[in-house]
Amino acid sequence: MFYLQQAVSFSSIATTPDRHLLGKIMRTPIPTSIEQMFANVNICLSLADARAEDIPLCYVNDKFCSMTGYDREELIGRNCRLLQGPDSEPISRQEIRSVLDNPKQVENQVFITNYRKSGERFENYLYIFRLINRDGETDFFLGSQFDVTKAKQAQGPDKHARQLWNGIKMIDNPYMETARMVLQSANLMSVSAANIARARLAASAQH
Ligand SMILES: Cc1cc2nc3c(=O)[nH]c(=O)nc-3n(C[C@H](O)[C@H](O)[C@H](O)COP(=O)(O)O)c2cc1C
Repeated sequence: MFYLQQAVSFSSIATTPDRHLLGKIMRTPIPTSIEQMFANVNICLSLADARAEDIPLCYVNDKFCSMTGYDREELIGRNCRLLQGPDSEPISRQEIRSVLDNPKQVENQVFITNYRKSGERFENYLYIFRLINRDGETDFFLGSQFDVTKAKQAQGPDKHARQLWNGIKMIDNPYMETARMVLQSANLMSVSAANIARARLAASAQH
């Protein structure tokens, strides 16, 4: 409730988060390296507050708003499951939960059917990263959404993964450990159009 009330006054925030305002809304202020990532990476990005009840969104970039059709003030303070609907795969939700619930799991990539505000269905390849601080606690979850429906060219997913990779490299203090673990694992760069096609097939087999 507190989050939703505060979210009303959030509308003045444009692309760059206002540190002071965010400080009132969030349990943990957004570190500069995250702000830099959001300002410099031209793909869909979302940030959720891991310490707040039900892990609400605390920051989304313009690409996220244009992909989903929601304004920023409609998103901040709400859980990202608002993008889900009748065809969203229960198994994908479980896979997302596995990274949220397991402190040892730093990242996951999940294919899930989502809906824009207009009700239009789209296929989302979601990357989630746990941002662990120097004390080993999780402050945030970072999400990056790739709209498979809109990807016209075969290299789309790879380009997205490359941009995400470059963005993760910008996350240093205080999440150096997360960045190191993500960059060391080959997962991020191994995503390809073929992987996404396999995920789509697995998802359609459930229906
Ligand atoms: C940073 C972040 C971004 C997320 N982005 C999406 C998304 O784009 N689409 C989606 O369906 N779920 C997304 N989720 C997952 C949901 O918010 C939620 O965690 C998921 O549905 C599992 O929890 P539930 O079973 O309680 O719904 C995201 C979660 C986080 C933390």
